[in-house]
Amino acid sequence: VPNPLFGKSIIWSQDFHPDILEDLFARTYRYTHQRSNSMLHNKRFVMLFYEPSTRTRFSFEAAIDDLGGSRISTESAMHFSSATKGETLEDTIRVMSAYGDCIVLRHPEEDAAMRARDFLQSQDIWTPIINAGCGKGQHPTQSLIDLYTLYKAFGRMKDLTIAVVGDLKHGRTVRSLAYLLGKFRGNKIHFVSPVELSVGYDILAYLNRHETPFTQSTSLDPYIEEVDAVYMTRTQEERFENKDDSKRLKGSYRLTTALAERMRRDALIMHPLPKVGEIDEEVYRLPQAAFYQQSDNGVLVRKALLEMMFSPN
Ligand code: NCD
Repeated sequence: VPNPLFGKSIIWSQDFHPDILEDLFARTYRYTHQRSNSMLHNKRFVMLFYEPSTRTRFSFEAAIDDLGGSRISTESAMHFSSATKGETLEDTIRVMSAYGDCIVLRHPEEDAAMRARDFLQSQDIWTPIINAGCGKGQHPTQSLIDLYTLYKAFGRMKDLTIAVVGDLKHGRTVRSLAYLLGKFRGNKIHFVSPVELSVGYDILAYLNRHETPFTQSTSLDPYIEEVDAVYMTRTQEERFENKDDSKRLKGSYRLTTALAERMRRDALIMHPLPKVGEIDEEVYRLPQAAFYQQSDNGVLVRKALLEMMFSPN
């Protein structure tokens, strides 16, 4: 039987069964010793990005290049694609599906990747879609990188206590990560945010169903010595209805050096990046700083993911 990701779209992080994650991370690790191969020979990727991206797009492109694939791309589809003329996402996706073997999609609407996949499948077209970040919904490939970073540091994906801090209402990376953490026994999440930026009830309901304990609070202080990782996020200014709120809330949480120094020596300070002031500059000197490990792991994890999608074994 082919591996379960072969030929599949990557839409939600809750679709990743724990066994798939083990397999994916074993392959990821192999790519630390082998930079390139010809796994994606004759495969063309359409990079369709309707929102800004640095890491996600460049690391996908680096991964595709190293595995011998090719790509066509627009980095600012809102401005340079027919979206400016009013074309629907469905039309654009249908057209692009004939120009490449996979579409990597970043879009401001939460359900865009799912809609793209479903529209193609309704026409019997099975070109896989990869969700590269959709609105305030999900960013599944980022959460794979985050979980791999934890796995590499602690040798396990279970029995981890993680504080996630910041804009949990609009941030898609935390949402995707919470779905992954909920799949393993013994994980515990402390959600820390201003009340206005609390994580969605859909996430809390999922964690309850999966018997994953969590707390919600406005201060990181009580948990700082206990946690295996602090996962910081930025205020997602562009997703606020009221810009004054975003300004007011922006400075309301911060990982200061003094706070970070109270963390366990083996704990991790994580951030999906871009960070814009919510972590003290000096923190990168601390042994716990892991945010560049996360971005470094981006290419490796994406290579392993593409390998599983495009090769049956
Ligand atoms: C994140 C995103 O796009 O959701 N960036 C990323 O892909 N690492 C985080 C963010 O924009 O805050």
